[in-house]
Amino acid sequence: LTATILGVTGYTGSLLLRMLLQHSGVDTIVPVSRSRGGEALAEALSGFPATASLKLASQSMVSSQDAEGMPTNVVFSALPHLESARAAVPYHKRRLADGSLVFIDLAADFRFRDADVFSAAYGQAPPSVPADTKVAYGLSELHRDEVRNADIIANPGCYPTATLLALLPLARAGALSGPIVVNAMSGITGAGGKLAADYLFNNRSENAKAYAPGSAHRHHPEIVEQLRAGWPGADVEVDLIFVPHLVPMRRGLAASIVAPLGRGWSDAAIAQLFADTYRDAPFIKLVADRVPATADVWGSNRCDIGWRVERGRVLLFSVIDNLIKGAAGQAVQNFNLRFGFDETSGLPLQAEA
Ligand SMILES: NC(=O)c1ccc[n+]([C@@H]2O[C@H](COP(=O)([O-])OP(=O)(O)OC[C@H]3O[C@@H](n4cnc5c(N)ncnc54)[C@H](OP(=O)(O)O)[C@@H]3O)[C@@H](O)[C@H]2O)c1
Repeated sequence: LTATILGVTGYTGSLLLRMLLQHSGVDTIVPVSRSRGGEALAEALSGFPATASLKLASQSMVSSQDAEGMPTNVVFSALPHLESARAAVPYHKRRLADGSLVFIDLAADFRFRDADVFSAAYGQAPPSVPADTKVAYGLSELHRDEVRNADIIANPGCYPTATLLALLPLARAGALSGPIVVNAMSGITGAGGKLAADYLFNNRSENAKAYAPGSAHRHHPEIVEQLRAGWPGADVEVDLIFVPHLVPMRRGLAASIVAPLGRGWSDAAIAQLFADTYRDAPFIKLVADRVPATADVWGSNRCDIGWRVERGRVLLFSVIDNLIKGAAGQAVQNFNLRFGFDETSGLPLQAEA
């Protein structure tokens, strides 16, 4: 298969390149850069070896315009939101013409079912998609069937991935009520590679803070929409308080969640529910009453989940590497599901030291 990567110079784009170069199902990669088209890949990506890779369709980065005319089976878009939807337009046309191209978006553009919710969060209407286009929310473990049949796979945000993998099984089982409180900590790479004073080393090292608390962060409506879709009964109001924090590390995301439980939910009942839900999920590690750490999953596509029941509430602890399970790794996992490869192909199961 041929895979195109849009935004290959970014954090997640360069990780996609690294993973797809090792993927046995990918023969050719088209590396696309809006800003550095024509530049040698080995020059622009300092971690990339000087020797040519036979898998690359071009040893230089390809401009967005040139890429649109090159053959491909799957496009991974690692662009900022709304840029991604713009870049997708010519590929929608090609899919309509040949019926097979799959678009996997790491941005938020195709994640929402409710257009008004998207508009409120992102300040403009969501992109339109051609009629009959199948769009899946790509939370791999919990949306496998939709992902297997999708034309567009909307990879979830990093905070929603860690939060929903812990909460959604309980919501689906009717175990939860509100208010649900999610305190989450992210490494600085979660903000991407843009230059801003807030992300300078001197302003972030030895410094942690909450930001966009309550319902102000764009991942709040994304988590709520997905919980509502899984919650038994129609038109439920999901009462969620989401408090993200920036903490002084490069990679890693930890979500600590507290939610009231319905009657009869014990540690053992939750253990059974998670064991049933994640029976065939190689990237989910259930650690029961041990609290997992971001270092346990650093560099891997895993999500480790711990839990504890106290006084009618569940405490859930979920950790991921934001750049892997929270972005590029889950995108490759979705690619594996969609194209029928083993779910673990090309993906790290083990954390790096
Ligand atoms: N970082 C995370 O932890 C994370 C987690 C989940 C989802 N995501 C999503 O994944 C996407 C990529 O994130 P990232 O962290 O890889 O970002 P990044 O490091 O900032 O890279 C984004 C890349 O997009 C390209 N680009 C094209 N048009 C652009 C524009 N108008 N402004 C800025 N860049 C533009 C640039 O590459 P070229 O110039 O080479 O084209 C840039 O390197 C985003 O939508 C982000 O929300 C990120």
